[in-house]
Amino acid sequence: MIYLDNAATSFPKPESVYQAIDRFNRSIGASPGRSGYATARAADKIVSETRGLLAQLFHVEKASQIVFTANATEAINLGLKGVLRLGDHVVTTVTDHNSVLRPLRSLVDHGQITATWVACDATGLVDTRNIRDALRPNTRLVCITHASNVTGAIHDMDAISTLAHENGTLLMVDAAQTAGCVPIDVQEMQIDLLAFTGHKGLLGPQGTGGLYIKPGIEVQPLREGGTGSQSSSDRQPEKMPDRYEGGTPNTPGLAGLSAGLRFVLETGVETIQAHELMLTEQLLDCLASVPSVKVYGPPPGARRVAVVSFTWEGCPPLNLAHLLSSGFDIAVRSGLHCAPLIHRYLGTSDTGTVRVSLGYFNTADDIDALSAALRQIANKMSAR
Ligand SMILES: Cc1ncc(COP(=O)(O)O)c(C=O)c1O
Repeated sequence: MIYLDNAATSFPKPESVYQAIDRFNRSIGASPGRSGYATARAADKIVSETRGLLAQLFHVEKASQIVFTANATEAINLGLKGVLRLGDHVVTTVTDHNSVLRPLRSLVDHGQITATWVACDATGLVDTRNIRDALRPNTRLVCITHASNVTGAIHDMDAISTLAHENGTLLMVDAAQTAGCVPIDVQEMQIDLLAFTGHKGLLGPQGTGGLYIKPGIEVQPLREGGTGSQSSSDRQPEKMPDRYEGGTPNTPGLAGLSAGLRFVLETGVETIQAHELMLTEQLLDCLASVPSVKVYGPPPGARRVAVVSFTWEGCPPLNLAHLLSSGFDIAVRSGLHCAPLIHRYLGTSDTGTVRVSLGYFNTADDIDALSAALRQIANKMSAR
């Protein structure tokens, strides 16, 4: 199979990821942070090493400021529900994913907060002046995706961060599509909350993710329970990260994530990014040569990730994805990609798009195979 759906989840993972999960499950298997015997200490070491690697990758002041969650969705829910108070206003964008849109919509529907969904243009780009205009005195949070999972466009985080902080507003960034393939420095970029997932660009397994919380920001926990610390008290410990990590963590997943992070750090985020962008250029050239294909997304030269959306006149996205899968064993995604609002601006709300998303393990041959498959499908369609 040629896998071109890395924006959903990366595949394959580095061999070391499979080995680390297997090693944990077969030879360690203990719960971390709760006991002093050898395998429990080994499990504890895995959790703290993974936190340390994340701190290194994101340039975090103290590793304990990173809280593990099941995925980016849980991290975003923790950030939103932990920070927002009755009467607060939030600025987000129509380019955001349902992991942002749905919890916000629910808070709005319950009368807890108000929100502004900043529009984008027909290429999916948000004009930062519109973010500035949306800010109000009671805007507690700007919550925005770093890169769109539909068009691949990267938002201008420096400008948005400056605008938010000038207004006394916190900035939460959804790095689901950028962690591991775009450099992120939470201190330099002045990010207050960074939500990330472990199973995409960080090359770890599904069921891993986390939230970076800048020191001094008050976030109410989403989940309380046993931590192995301060067990004599029935109150949740205040210390980081225990305050947010009630319950046994996904230690096998974190073992895998740790191996994924080592791979990313050893390879270098810039090297990964350069490879993915080189393939993206090749993909865009290939799509430009297929008649009746329309590509949605940032103009050439704009900052982006390796996510490309397109439609093909005469062949709905669902059908095309099915033809690529059944006839050529090529895996792409079709539809709205859990980001319903952006399609109103792209003009694709009815059927969505075909999305091709590339990862570090894709090659130029994969794009050539997609290109050949599209040409064959085009020939068949024109012969009809
Ligand atoms: C931009 C964006 N945000 C959030 C998510 C949610 O990630 P997860 O499924 O790991 O919670 C995704 C996943 O597709 C995404 O693309």
